Amino acid sequence: MAVTDQTLFEAAEAIRAHAYAPYSHFHVGAAILADDGNIYSGCNVENAAYPQGNCAEASAIAAMIAGGARRIKRVYVTGPGREPVTPCGGCRQRIREFADPDVTVISHGVDGTPLESTLGELLPHSFGPEFLGR
Ligand code: THU
Repeated sequence: MAVTDQTLFEAAEAIRAHAYAPYSHFHVGAAILADDGNIYSGCNVENAAYPQGNCAEASAIAAMIAGGARRIKRVYVTGPGREPVTPCGGCRQRIREFADPDVTVISHGVDGTPLESTLGELLPHSFGPEFLGR
């Protein structure tokens, strides 16, 4: 069965409910459709030592790798508010490790309209594994 954006949205929203964000109160969910056809999701996990917090996208990537998949086919990110919750710079690079430039990233502040971008638009002229011969 084809995975729809509605399914990815629901997966991101379901895991967003588990976000641990007592400092920012900004709860984020991310759902990845991977090359094995499965959906891997993650939420942000903050820390009292602020820089040690994890973004939702990083958590979802960790779940994907732990689950045995290797390539990202589509990403859906949800968060509060009207503005699209776009991945931070670090997460764009994290996604880059496992996704081609034409992969779609949907950024959605759930009170607003989803924004569809490609990874190449979010992170142009990027550095990746092939630079290291991988
Ligand atoms: N955050 C994410 O998890 N993903 C994003 O795409 C944007 C920001 C988190 C990090 C931090 O826990 C909180 O949102 C506020 O920046």
